[in-house]
Amino acid sequence: MAQKTFTLLEQPARIIFGIGAADILGDELRHRKLNKALIVTDEGVRKSGVIGVIEKSLEKAGVAVEIFDEVRPNSGVQIVEKGTRIAKEESRDVVVGIGGGSSMDTAKAIGAMVTNEGSIQDYEGLHKLKKQPLPIVLLPTTAGTSSEVTLWAVITDEEQKRKMGIGSSMLIPTFAIDDPLLTISQPPNVTAAAGMDALTHAIESYVNTAAQPISECFALEAIKLIGKYLRLAVAKGGNVEARYNMLLGTLMAGLAFHQTRLGNCHALAMPLGGGKWQIPHGLVNAILLPHVMEFNLIGNLDKFTLVAETMGQKTDGLSLRKAAEQAIVAIKELNEDVGICQRLGDFGVEGKDLPEIAGEAIKSGNIAVNPRQTNIDDLISIAKKAL
Ligand SMILES: [Fe+2]
Repeated sequence: MAQKTFTLLEQPARIIFGIGAADILGDELRHRKLNKALIVTDEGVRKSGVIGVIEKSLEKAGVAVEIFDEVRPNSGVQIVEKGTRIAKEESRDVVVGIGGGSSMDTAKAIGAMVTNEGSIQDYEGLHKLKKQPLPIVLLPTTAGTSSEVTLWAVITDEEQKRKMGIGSSMLIPTFAIDDPLLTISQPPNVTAAAGMDALTHAIESYVNTAAQPISECFALEAIKLIGKYLRLAVAKGGNVEARYNMLLGTLMAGLAFHQTRLGNCHALAMPLGGGKWQIPHGLVNAILLPHVMEFNLIGNLDKFTLVAETMGQKTDGLSLRKAAEQAIVAIKELNEDVGICQRLGDFGVEGKDLPEIAGEAIKSGNIAVNPRQTNIDDLISIAKKAL
């Protein structure tokens, strides 16, 4: 890489990673004199027994707990408003998000809206928040979004039928706990989709124009770990080594894209995850990724070749163009092996919808860092190939 000037953005002050690390939550809160927690989660996580482990840790540390388990996939403004009301009425001093991206992002938004005026829609975009949120602590139960280390919260605006990104350094959690044991009960289809989301983060961050030497280290290691362990995590959910390495790879992907943003795949995933289609985030990325990579390939043949090699593809004796193509082959094989064979059309997306989808996607900040310059027609033709 050229001798690039770059800024390393702030990250959570503390990331605690390890098997059984969730047990430490109570002590970490007590240490910070936080003793009235609002746990933000969904019904599935609550029933899975994960919350029981957390509650024990908090009880032991003398932290009072209120549980708000009404988060749904692609959680919306109304859930944020209800959670905020509860946090205020119950005088909570910390918001603990436990779950996938929706629970963690909802926790971030609730933390923000306890201290900021108006509605969460007022803060769409980057650095719009005015006041420091309540302390936010996040524990992922899927290896996918990395919301626990990023400055972003994605919330669905139910009325406008669209997803909003709220980005602020104030939304970086006070601390994060990554415990692979919390991910073990995820079923194969969730593991597969979340894992492909994390891999998309790593690849988009690695090849985009904002990549810098430190983000590249995290991204490439994430590609290696996810490329090696996703199949095993899907095939044998109880395999702790696979869960450990998937969560570690996901964390590294998060640390990478927190620095760099993403690319065309995530730009298109926003409208397709909202509106009338509501395609789960990991799944839509998995569907789009090979097509986005095909479009982007000539933007950085060297890097796509490294992606291919890192995922175990043989490139000896191939031209640079053919070697780079092996990265797409690797993604297609991985999608197939983990059972992702859907197309956009399976979710009701039609050719006539593509201009509207592309029109929304082009507004994303991820377009500006994509490794190949992109216009609306490019986005339409990428999405068309995934129909
Ligand atoms: Fe994502």
